[in-house]
Amino acid sequence: MNAVPGSGSPVVIILAAGEGTRMKSSRPKVLHSIAGRSLLQHVVSAAAEIEPAHVMVVVGHGRDEVIAHLDEVAPWVDTVVQQVQAGTGHAVRVALEALIDGSHLDTEAPVIVLSGDTPLLTGRTVAQLLSTHQAAAATATLLSARLADPSGYGRVVRDASGEIIAITEHKDANPATLAIDEINAGMYVFAGRPLMRALANITTANAQGEEYLTDVLALLSAEDERLVAWLVPDASEILGVNDRVQLAGAAGLMQQRINDQWMRAGVAILDPGSVWIDVDVDLAADVVLMPQTHLVGPTTIATGARIGPGTTLKSCEVGVGASVVHTMGELAVIGDEATVGPFTYLRPGTRLGIGAKAGAFVEMKNAELGTGSKVPHLSYVGDAVIGIGTNIGAATVFVNYDGANKHHTIVGDQVRIGSDTMLIAPISVGDGAYTAAGSVITEDVPAGAMAVGRARQRNISGWVQRRRAGTASAAAAQLATPASAPASKEESQ
Ligand code: UD1
Ligand code: CA
Repeated sequence: MNAVPGSGSPVVIILAAGEGTRMKSSRPKVLHSIAGRSLLQHVVSAAAEIEPAHVMVVVGHGRDEVIAHLDEVAPWVDTVVQQVQAGTGHAVRVALEALIDGSHLDTEAPVIVLSGDTPLLTGRTVAQLLSTHQAAAATATLLSARLADPSGYGRVVRDASGEIIAITEHKDANPATLAIDEINAGMYVFAGRPLMRALANITTANAQGEEYLTDVLALLSAEDERLVAWLVPDASEILGVNDRVQLAGAAGLMQQRINDQWMRAGVAILDPGSVWIDVDVDLAADVVLMPQTHLVGPTTIATGARIGPGTTLKSCEVGVGASVVHTMGELAVIGDEATVGPFTYLRPGTRLGIGAKAGAFVEMKNAELGTGSKVPHLSYVGDAVIGIGTNIGAATVFVNYDGANKHHTIVGDQVRIGSDTMLIAPISVGDGAYTAAGSVITEDVPAGAMAVGRARQRNISGWVQRRRAGTASAAAAQLATPASAPASKEESQ
């Protein structure tokens, strides 16, 4: 390990054991999400950017859910359970003990402490805090901010020469201290050894009867250790989420940050306030996002594609120059120059080929539509493979479900499926075949055949005049019937 104090790879401790009662939720606070990631995952991602030697998350309330979540999204972090939430100082001590037990603590390396409920924190700010600490050769470096309304926060107390001498919690502060507008953001870098020493000496003699991590600062100051603060330029980064109003506020700030970043990268966003883009979305330059567009999960959109208005795409892939209007899509692949919508539902496993079309009031699921093929109107296409240059007439249904099992349909190239065809799966329609409008197709159709599967029409002449005598329809029919043709025959061909 490196012998120069403070120069080893840092460890990060993230405090996330609190209950978050003000969320009024059955879900632990840090698992609420914005922009497609939990609050905690945002903090873990920011920490990951400085490539720490180790990340230890302190869990307590809802620990099973929090641990399961971390296993899924960040399996490389460690967790330790704080059985009783006895305060932030206690939480850090529990984490340090776990790091020592796991031989993960290089006592010469910096210890970074973050909070699990500050999703707007960036990796850049964590890196700045760390470099400030190292440049100052400090024992403790805290992130501070100046707030118009500092109430609720701990205040950074300095002596006449400007040296930090303590952090005083709001509940323990006198009026003079309450007037200080420099607050403690709750994010710190410490030298490991002095931190452990000071933590052994903190007490619960305060307004909340808790072991305050912040008391470490006064103890270190009394030992003449060097304490510095780095004032965060953008105070939104330190905003903590305690209730659903703050959750929505943080989501709005994140939305603005993400949208600004994409606009600077060449994406056109009309009405950015109504466009929501998750962190894991990837967009190319010259993508156009219309109002009320939500891009969720790992969605990718290629250059020139136009999305929206009124469109939600979850984990979808959209090709170059495609157009997607008033659409709901999930796990769908939309090919280059394909057109979708308006009012289209693309379910998992949908794949639209180059220039393909899924039009108005069309639902597709686990279905592949070949290059240039079209499903223009009012159709359901489930469990199917459709070839190239094929047209599926209006109101066609791929009848894939027999009440117990799902079955598959294959439609070839250059096929013309007539309007209102029911294709009863399993079935296949050969290349170049046609089906007559209104057909119920129950047998395979060979290439080039016209399949007709419907009853022959018969006209029962004079039926209305006889059976609906006295109605407006009967009168209209009578006027249209030549006098020489009495409505007497029961049937005619
Ligand atoms: C803390 C700071 C305060 C600072 C503020 C910034 C202390 C004593 N005060 O106050 O100076 O201005 O953050 O937001 O540290 N936690 C645990 N275990 C515990 C207690 C807390 O894991 O036993 C976690 C919480 O879940 C939370 C974080 O630590 O993520 C901060 O705790 P919280 O009680 O919210 O501290 P504040 O009163 O906000
Ligand atoms: Ca808090």
